[in-house]
Amino acid sequence: MALWSGRFSRGTDNLVQAFSESISYDHRLYPYDIQGSIAHARMLGRQGIIPQQDADSIIAGLEQIRAEIESGAFVFKTELEDIHMNIEARLIDLIGPAGARLHTGRSRNDQIATDERLFLRAECAQLDVLLIALQKALLQLAEEHQELIMPGFTHLQHAQPVLFAHHLLAYLEMFGRDRERFTDALHRINRLPLGAGAIAGSTLPLDREGVARELGFESVLQNSMDAVADRDVLLETLSGLAITAMHLSRLAEDIVIWFSQEFAFIELGDAFTTGSSLMPQKKNPDVAELARGKTGRVYGHLLALLTTMKGLPLTYNRDLQEDKEGLFDALDTVKMTLETITAMLATLRPVPEKMQAAASDPALMATDLAEWLVRQGVPFRDAHHQVGRFVAGCLQRQQSLADASLEQMQESIPLATAECLQLFDCRRSVNARDLTGGTAPAQVRRQIERWKTLLA
Ligand code: ARG
Repeated sequence: MALWSGRFSRGTDNLVQAFSESISYDHRLYPYDIQGSIAHARMLGRQGIIPQQDADSIIAGLEQIRAEIESGAFVFKTELEDIHMNIEARLIDLIGPAGARLHTGRSRNDQIATDERLFLRAECAQLDVLLIALQKALLQLAEEHQELIMPGFTHLQHAQPVLFAHHLLAYLEMFGRDRERFTDALHRINRLPLGAGAIAGSTLPLDREGVARELGFESVLQNSMDAVADRDVLLETLSGLAITAMHLSRLAEDIVIWFSQEFAFIELGDAFTTGSSLMPQKKNPDVAELARGKTGRVYGHLLALLTTMKGLPLTYNRDLQEDKEGLFDALDTVKMTLETITAMLATLRPVPEKMQAAASDPALMATDLAEWLVRQGVPFRDAHHQVGRFVAGCLQRQQSLADASLEQMQESIPLATAECLQLFDCRRSVNARDLTGGTAPAQVRRQIERWKTLLA
């Protein structure tokens, strides 16, 4: 019998039960549902809304239910719909009439909104831990290979030489902002819905501020209708997850490219690669590919909830129950991806000869030549054009830029001197980019030190 069966003369159709239940997935909210209920019961007792004795037995009953769930002894029932009613029904079983007082001044509408906020808070804390671990893995690689030069790419074409560490540090910045997004969302997550009731508040003297303090919320939501109707904090978390998944996917794509035979910039540990069932020679970067592939479902969950929300009239509508599975899956997917990519990075070994050889392509230093001309007073646009003509001439002669004679260079670049011939050295090129954010070893060292302090 449902806890709300009073005004009904017959039970719900089995099909409807199967269609509308959420216990098969919202059971994972149990720690937060119990935590919220304990704070609520304590407040009801403190305010004299229910007898103190009843509040005490409710709290003891809820603790026992927590233990039952944790030991696996608790029986979840589909006919009780969701986590709230499964726990409340068991409480009434356990402690009798006092249990029937728990739901005083509360609705499942403000209850679920509270559970979800407590859940999100815990999840954001876990995401921060996992993102820190990933940043540390990237930082360690950067620190171990501080001198290593590789070609930097734009359009996946050789652009300018960069330190491998500089490339890795770019991801530290991205994952650092991802952490900021989750931490920042916490200020909005940390506001209490309880006390909103079903929609309009309560006639009872509830102490919302007291409950907020006990649950560690920063404040109480100031409008009861908003409190039960919105899911923007879930959307904010999902959009943070979508961005993190996008960053992970780009890192994964770099790894796939670097691991290809054509690049062969890196090696990956056997435990983090897979073979082919047909081709005996294969060693595939499946972990990185899956990280890239799983991004789609995370984006999908964000779009799904945005779509669910878009036409809902205020306030609570049962549509909102659809907010959970996608959120759970997005969180589980991103957390597992973070963990796996972090572990894989510990097995990543750069292949210095390959990176160095590719970075020595003199064409990568064409910009250095143009900037040398700027230092002689040539306007940049003219310098760019002269160097472009020089490059075209070399291509025509099927000659590397570094093999051109000074006379050949001067055909396109009248001001060129012997010094220009020295510019086609990738280490010199990297060393010269010595400004904040640049790839010079001194700058990269500074950034490594900065991140070591930030992550300590
Ligand atoms: N399982 C419900 C949900 O997740 C809890 C709130 C139900 N409220 C209601 N009025 N039926 O949304």
